[in-house]
Amino acid sequence: MRIVYRDFFLFEMANRELGENLMNDQIKAADINSSGHLQIGGVDALTLADKYGTPVLVYDVAKIRDQIHRFRNVFEQEHVEYEVSYASKAFASVAIYQVMKQEQAHIDVVSGGELATAIKADFPMEKISFHGNNKSEAELSMALEHGVGTIVVDNFHEIDLLKQLIADSSKRVNVQLRITPGIAAHTNSYIATGQVDSKFGFDVDSGQADKALRELMAISQINVTGIHAHIGSQIFDVQGFKGVAHKLVQIAADWQEKYDFHTKILNVGGGFGIKYSADDHPIHPEDFVRAIIDVVKKSAQESGIDMPAIWIEPGRSIVGPAGYTLYTIGSRKDIPGLLPYVSVDGGMGDNIRPALYNAKYEAVLARDPQAQNIEEVRIAGKYCESGDILSDRQPLPETHPGDVLVMLDTGAYDYAMASNYNRNPRPAVVFVENGRDQLVIKRESYDDLTHLDLNYSL
Ligand code: LLP
Repeated sequence: MRIVYRDFFLFEMANRELGENLMNDQIKAADINSSGHLQIGGVDALTLADKYGTPVLVYDVAKIRDQIHRFRNVFEQEHVEYEVSYASKAFASVAIYQVMKQEQAHIDVVSGGELATAIKADFPMEKISFHGNNKSEAELSMALEHGVGTIVVDNFHEIDLLKQLIADSSKRVNVQLRITPGIAAHTNSYIATGQVDSKFGFDVDSGQADKALRELMAISQINVTGIHAHIGSQIFDVQGFKGVAHKLVQIAADWQEKYDFHTKILNVGGGFGIKYSADDHPIHPEDFVRAIIDVVKKSAQESGIDMPAIWIEPGRSIVGPAGYTLYTIGSRKDIPGLLPYVSVDGGMGDNIRPALYNAKYEAVLARDPQAQNIEEVRIAGKYCESGDILSDRQPLPETHPGDVLVMLDTGAYDYAMASNYNRNPRPAVVFVENGRDQLVIKRESYDDLTHLDLNYSL
């Protein structure tokens, strides 16, 4: 019956326009080596799968650096003061923080755990911004103790905590004030944060943001350096960013007039969308940044405030396209009239995004990424849950157990959201650059899985 479905697929393909490229358009000629295999950062994907085992998440570090440079170049060309602050929730590890340090980028952290990782990476503390809608007292005092550069203050409880924590010291703290801009981005509702009904930041229209600013300005050790807003994630439309940039300038101008507060920084957050599949049409990082700069320049001039520095916080767009997850294909199930299930040795434990957000990814075979596709399949994970489907419709060439399947663009929020569901170990992470590879997170062992477990003896 498998043949029946394949015949149908081939018939469908024959009916498509002659010459239509059925290959994955995210694979470029440069990604294929002389053996016809996929190469990542100049290293054969099959060699990587052999050396490190699967599943393994491989990052092409040059791609990460390149994305940062692309964001940065526009600011440089436009002579605008700026910071690119990598939102490390997308992928946090000692190694990625070390790359960010080399690139002289800033980073955002959102937990004591990310901060501890940055400390371990010897990341410069003054280049860290600490985010979060419910930072604990312990997390805030850790941030103060280590001299974190900016606390992005989110709510009144946090202002009280900060006040108490610095009361008996001479510590000075830089803060940005996070507002909810009231701009709903067109994205999955789970990852939209800019609308008024959001758990993040101070509401503007009801006067909360004004009250927060007055409270912060009244604390002599606190220096409010900027205003922050973030509208959501995986955004393709530049309108939302223009809107938030304009809104931030308006607020800055209003606060200058009312409170003689002069903002040094406007932080427009992250959220720049990437291409996961043929259905995604993101705009270039340069275009996002240029649009933001244009609006801030124009609005600042109109409203009579000095041109502030612009900070952006990209996460996904920096690490997403640089990540490749290598799996080994195992079992297969064919059901008459339905798409077959082709199972791999990972799944929702290393990539929860398809199950959680209905996220789409594309995949190719490592041994021949340009092979003629002959069928569409569902790529199933190995976790005990029917929803553990990595792709619900993936065109593939003929596959066999043991083939290495590579999922593309898995660098953001995949490992970062990984779990040990079913007590599966989390995969290894490897960085590749200039034809060389290095293990940067070990694969978990069964001992790692049980090392916190204690015997029950009551
Ligand atoms: N800044 C702030 C304040 C944020 O909350 C976020 C993401 C970013 C920057 C970075 O956004 P990005 O450039 O990466 O889109 N787990 C979800 C994404 C959650 C995003 C949370 N905040 C996913 O897998 O799609």
